[in-house]
Amino acid sequence: MAEFKKAFVLGHPVKQSRSPLIHNHWIQRHGLTGSYEAIDVAPGTLPLFLENVRSGQYVGGNITVPLKEEAFEAVDCLTGSAKSIGAVNTVYMENDKIWGDNTDAYGFSANLDNEAQGWRNCGNAVVVGAGGAARAIVKSLIGANIPSILVLNRTFERAEKLAKDFGQAVTAAPLDEFQSLIANAGLVINTSSIGMAGKGEWPFDFTAAGLSTLVTDIVYVPLETGFLKSAHGAGLKTIDGLGMLLHQAVPGFERWFGVRPTVNTQLRALIEADVLRANP
Ligand code: ATR
Repeated sequence: MAEFKKAFVLGHPVKQSRSPLIHNHWIQRHGLTGSYEAIDVAPGTLPLFLENVRSGQYVGGNITVPLKEEAFEAVDCLTGSAKSIGAVNTVYMENDKIWGDNTDAYGFSANLDNEAQGWRNCGNAVVVGAGGAARAIVKSLIGANIPSILVLNRTFERAEKLAKDFGQAVTAAPLDEFQSLIANAGLVINTSSIGMAGKGEWPFDFTAAGLSTLVTDIVYVPLETGFLKSAHGAGLKTIDGLGMLLHQAVPGFERWFGVRPTVNTQLRALIEADVLRANP
């Protein structure tokens, strides 16, 4: 009989996570014997919990807010992606070591590859926000050879620090200058929590952007954020953040269960319905 494999998502709180819906859908689709559960782990106790991966009780799992930086410190080895982003969202065992990876940069580019072929040739990018999520997006843009990446942030010093960490292709400016600075952008991405359900309205407009500018948000609750609504209103093509969530889950599932799953319309409809139930 096939070995029963258990995986998890750890967070605090964790009940908002859609990862169990995604991974259990794939477990069923592939007829695997396994489970994927959401477990609330209090900050400070993550290293203790990860011993369950070392002992083989779990094959690994995802790590979500606010434990991604704690996981970065707690694992034995880091992938290149986790190192440059400074956070871990996926853990697994390899050669008796607990590895920490970050699949957000992959999820971002895989989603655009599916939804907006040609995005890699869009020219300059503007990234709004300079937190952990912004680091994953900048990593992804550098991987896609985007020639110039401008990071805009309310706290300018944080944008400056991020630009310095990622080198030449990345520059920084204050968020107040958004409207004029998007004039030359082929791609504009929101990574900040503005527009997240209950976190305030998007205060700028997209009238200065060229009509071929592609706009995307990594926030997916609500599906159409104020940021995307504003871009849509200016006649621009927009892509919501749900696809990135689905694609970032692929590499972890493949590691734990040995099958590379696909993101299809059935999975998207399942998760979209859940998001709409929570945020009509
Ligand atoms: P994450 O790791 O998810 O990126 P974070 O590190 O808390 O989370 O970063 C949140 C981002 O949203 C930051 O860029 C933050 O700007 P500051 O660095 O100035 O705090 C941005 N942000 C959150 N609320 C905002 C608001 N009301 N206006 C502008 N920027 C906001």
